[in-house]
Amino acid sequence: MQQITSAAALTERTAASKRQGCTVGLVPTMGALHEGHLSLVRRALDENDLVVVSLFVNPIQFNNREDLEKYPRTLDADLKLIASLPQRDGQLLAFTPSVAEMYPEPTDGVVYDLGPVADVMEGPRRPGHFNGVAIVVRRLFDLTQPTRAYFGEKDFQQVAVIRSLLRITGHPVELVPCPIVRAADGLALSSRNARLSAEARAMAPMIYDTLSQAVEMSEYEDVDTVRLWVLDTLSSAHEVFPQPGGLHFEPEYFEVVDDTTLQPISRWRDAKGSVGCIAVWLDGVRLIDMVRFR
Ligand code: PAF
Repeated sequence: MQQITSAAALTERTAASKRQGCTVGLVPTMGALHEGHLSLVRRALDENDLVVVSLFVNPIQFNNREDLEKYPRTLDADLKLIASLPQRDGQLLAFTPSVAEMYPEPTDGVVYDLGPVADVMEGPRRPGHFNGVAIVVRRLFDLTQPTRAYFGEKDFQQVAVIRSLLRITGHPVELVPCPIVRAADGLALSSRNARLSAEARAMAPMIYDTLSQAVEMSEYEDVDTVRLWVLDTLSSAHEVFPQPGGLHFEPEYFEVVDDTTLQPISRWRDAKGSVGCIAVWLDGVRLIDMVRFR
């Protein structure tokens, strides 16, 4: 595995591969890698001649300074992890740019109209977040001209936003959404899990338990009943199962949406495919997760 910090060197390397007819897979990350990221990298290594893993904590997608400061940074361990994956000689590039290298020009005036998929759930709650994601992903697409790009479905809305970005930019990239990887107790793997105290970590699997029960309930209950039940169940979990230190869930939203338009639905039959997306606070950490209903 080779580590590259210069944007020009990255483009030189990926363009040379593409001239030889090689496929290039891109796995954008912000580091703090876990098994979820590694599943994306493994898949990209299986499907492409050359794989670029970017490790860059993108400051412009954080709408909250404290969240940016607290974001875990574990570059040495990350590099070791991806270097240890089975790969051919010269197949894997780790791109670890500085902020100046990533953004040689100011990005303040760059605004994408990402459409209705960006206007729900995370969109209004994290102003500027998806625009910041779109800017960094576009830059990575420009630099690497990937054949395929890999994103985890835990950030289900982000995948829809990238699809919308691709329609705007016209990059001929195959978007490859990859399934959520969960811990044995069901918690969706996330870099933010590292910030959970032991007590909060023990409580966190209730999120997926609740979502899984909601999927069963969706067989016989209507959308709104299921939606409110999920919010109520998590909000009152600490009353049913008292937690040390008064730990409790504070759901920010749980929406049942069309899996393509991401607009909320009120009847199951309103969408061909539907998913439930949740953001919930636990002990000062914001966790997100999703399940498929239909
Ligand atoms: O999902 C993430 O980790 C980030 O939003 C991404 C896609 C790497 C852009 O910074």
